[in-house]
Amino acid sequence: MSQADAGPHHVISARQFDPELLDRLFRSADLMRERITSPTEPLLPGRVMATLFYEPSTRTRLSFESAMLRLGGQVVSTENARDFSSAIKGETLEDTVRIVGGYADCIVLRHPEEGAAARAAAVSPVPVINAGDGRGEHPTQALLDLYTIRAELGRLDHLHVVMVGDLANGRTVHSLVDLLSRYPGQRVTLAAPDRVRMPPEAVEQLREAGAVVVESVDLLEAVRDADVVYQTRVQTERLQEPWPEAGSDVRRFRVTPELMRALPRKAVVMHPLPRVGEIDPAVDADPRAAYFRQAGNGVPVRMALLAMVLEG
Ligand code: CP
Repeated sequence: MSQADAGPHHVISARQFDPELLDRLFRSADLMRERITSPTEPLLPGRVMATLFYEPSTRTRLSFESAMLRLGGQVVSTENARDFSSAIKGETLEDTVRIVGGYADCIVLRHPEEGAAARAAAVSPVPVINAGDGRGEHPTQALLDLYTIRAELGRLDHLHVVMVGDLANGRTVHSLVDLLSRYPGQRVTLAAPDRVRMPPEAVEQLREAGAVVVESVDLLEAVRDADVVYQTRVQTERLQEPWPEAGSDVRRFRVTPELMRALPRKAVVMHPLPRVGEIDPAVDADPRAAYFRQAGNGVPVRMALLAMVLEG
């Protein structure tokens, strides 16, 4: 990771990854894919990963655990840390992390508060990997998203990416914007209901990096020359005020068979999942529907990341 000191190699933000490091990680993930199909000697025998999840998860927790097991390591886990760890008795996150850091060689943390992963890293004796901190970031999702674009399209520059849905609360898009902005020639179209538009600082970051950014409410028009349609769900659990019109507002931004007819032949549709209606299941059989392949890439990318964090 890009840090000068000799302390633990925490993974807190997508900002830590430059194209050189990303290239190294993705080459390693390519090799990890081969390891999954043809297992060889274990890479991390005797190492223990703790997953400390204060919010629900299917993909992130299980793919991290699968990754560690496939590397020959072991896993200790609290999948509902809010209720079934000593947090319920009032223990602070910092104290929990100090303790778990004595039981494991790294901690994968998901927490509802933005900045929680950085707080944990400040006191942890072992590497902390941010598996989502509130509305903040989800850097390992962005890594597997970028890996998927590379695998599906063969390049990471000069892309037209259409980001759709809840761009205010969807932490995966915040981390992905950061990674995309490291490559030249990007064009990003933001298609979101008014209530959940991309934060201005993220738009500014893209523009400062040289990307052309357009906000659009006409999704059908926007996708006509897209390389990637990145759909997201409304993060109802993070809405700060009631949104009674959410259903009709969001329906305008669905991925449907009609939209797929407008999408170029070589484009892909991605989604960090879970989906809750914003992609019509009728689209699933289309070869351009890459979201299940994307979720599958979570294992080799997280294997590569764990090997990097724990072995250097
Ligand atoms: N994409 C993602 O973070 O999914 P989970 O919430 O299931 O981990």
